[in-house]
Amino acid sequence: MDAQQMKQAVARAALDHVVPGRIVGVGTGSTVDCFIDALATIRQRIAGAVSSSERSTQRLRGHGIEVFGIDAIAERLPVYVDGADEIDPRGNMIKGGGAALTREKLVADLCERFVCIADASKRVEVLGRFPLPVEVLPLAAARLVQRFAAIGGRAVPREGVVTDNGLAILDVHGLAIDDPLAFEQEVSQWPGVLTVGVFARHRASLCLLGTPEGVRTIAY
Ligand code: 5RP
Repeated sequence: MDAQQMKQAVARAALDHVVPGRIVGVGTGSTVDCFIDALATIRQRIAGAVSSSERSTQRLRGHGIEVFGIDAIAERLPVYVDGADEIDPRGNMIKGGGAALTREKLVADLCERFVCIADASKRVEVLGRFPLPVEVLPLAAARLVQRFAAIGGRAVPREGVVTDNGLAILDVHGLAIDDPLAFEQEVSQWPGVLTVGVFARHRASLCLLGTPEGVRTIAY
């Protein structure tokens, strides 16, 4: 299987985790695009979707799937399906390569289970090889670059990117995040940070990992 076939395979496998009659949480990215296309084949069996980005919302609606606003969801949803930029052996992730991390965390927080769909290249022992996305207030960016430098990170503003929330992204290079939960809690409190792209509190419950041999299911 090539990379695209792996994405399609994990996307199809994720359909087994969608709960009939319920709203499904939908993430963002090229793997999720494949999931949305697969979801369209069972759209009569779901109550609709809640989406983590304008990109996914448009794709869902293009398939005739009803999309509910995040703020319209009063109940706990059973499952959130999303990709990742990195995933460690405990299901902690780096996310935000597509700049959608804040809404991704919001939708993940609405859902009981996080089903991560990814190809095997995303598996790492320690998070941090992928530059860590952090959504920040633009006026705090210079100060935050200094704060990351103090812990060994080189934070680079993502040029030309304004998030769905009207804010900026810093990509932080050179980190080795060996305690993802502590790191997430610490950086989330820095003034000017809206969301840090470490998903430890909302780590994966399950990973459907695309490998050349097929889909591997890893439960955490
Ligand atoms: C977007 C994300 C994506 O899940 C992550 O970037 C993986 O994307 P892809 O499936 O295209 O590799 O966090 O903000």
